[in-house]
Amino acid sequence: MPRLFDPLTVRSQTFANRIFVSPMCEYSSTDGFAGDWHLVHLGSRAVGGAGLVFTEATAVTPEGRISPEDLGIWTDEHVEPLARIVRFIHEQGSVAGMQLAHAGRKASTYRPWSGAGTVPASDGGWTNVLAPSAVPFADNHPMPRELTVDGIRGIADAFAAAAGRARDAGFRVIELHAAHGYLLHEFLSPLSNRRQDDYGGSFGNRTRLVRETVTAIRAVWPEALPLFVRISATDWVEGGWDIEQSVELARQLKPLGVDLIDCSSGGNAAQATIPFGPGYQTPFAERIRREAGVLTGAVGLITAPLQAELIVATGQADAVLLARELLRDPYFPLRAARELGQDITWPAQYLRAGPKDARPRAAVNVPDR
Ligand SMILES: Cc1cc2nc3c(=O)[nH]c(=O)nc-3n(C[C@H](O)[C@H](O)[C@H](O)COP(=O)(O)O)c2cc1C
Repeated sequence: MPRLFDPLTVRSQTFANRIFVSPMCEYSSTDGFAGDWHLVHLGSRAVGGAGLVFTEATAVTPEGRISPEDLGIWTDEHVEPLARIVRFIHEQGSVAGMQLAHAGRKASTYRPWSGAGTVPASDGGWTNVLAPSAVPFADNHPMPRELTVDGIRGIADAFAAAAGRARDAGFRVIELHAAHGYLLHEFLSPLSNRRQDDYGGSFGNRTRLVRETVTAIRAVWPEALPLFVRISATDWVEGGWDIEQSVELARQLKPLGVDLIDCSSGGNAAQATIPFGPGYQTPFAERIRREAGVLTGAVGLITAPLQAELIVATGQADAVLLARELLRDPYFPLRAARELGQDITWPAQYLRAGPKDARPRAAVNVPDR
């Protein structure tokens, strides 16, 4: 039997299978609000049978948005439209997760189809772009302001407040975004963190904000619910953040209440040379799982059912996260089950398209309201 469809239980939460929807910015919000696009986009992938559906990077403060059109959760008003989406995902038997993010020095940039580089204030951008140090990501990116120590504490508080709202919206998993050159990754990496205070220099200082943020989230996020952290396991640049530091960070995060490390890479150095290829980041998930003794997720150019099955079955990761393949085919999990000979449940409405003995799917976690 394929292992890709083994249920996975983390704390009190069981995922029906190990195919997770990787967070994907949709750049389709006004003032951070979720709308019809988010319902249909995320809802389709729940209908398609993914075990877990993550929202895109959801900004914990307005200036922490990558673009003016990012999803956000910095006010209580953001909760209800998200709660509607969560209910729909859970009705499909999938689990709703939210990725919480702050874009740091990569904030206030154009969404991919509207331009490139910094968005000026006249076009909805902002000037309080924040980072550990006043080092821009690239020439066409804003010069960030160095955060004060009070400002840094405010970041951890903003993540915790956002986690409380995600809980109120009914999400069952939080993923802290500490990858891809956004604020938390900027603190981790010596390429972007030139501070000389308690938040820069040594490994312990550079990782302090991630540890403090995890602790602040855990104080409001229910004990029974999983907390994931996405990291860039390497900057792919000599002298940058690397896999050895990632293993050590994972070891330190586990006792703070982190259940799974989602192992991505890159994004913090415009000049990095990245060896893209099928499953190119999976070795990081395998190594962190083995050396830090923590659950891991593999992501990056995973596109075929057998490839995904191999990753889980050989213990390289506990789950696979798919992004672009799930854009091409939201029903990838149903297709993978067919190809791998696995019997899985189908949406009742679609039963006549499934195998002869297909069973209807049951809802999970649907709140009593
Ligand atoms: C349209 C798009 C938006 C993305 N937005 C996010 C995001 O919000 N947060 C994140 O951590 N990664 C984001 N990513 C990266 C994906 O989650 C994933 O790590 C990457 O695309 C590699 O996986 P893939 O080869 O399956 O696409 C995005 C990728 C795409 C294609």
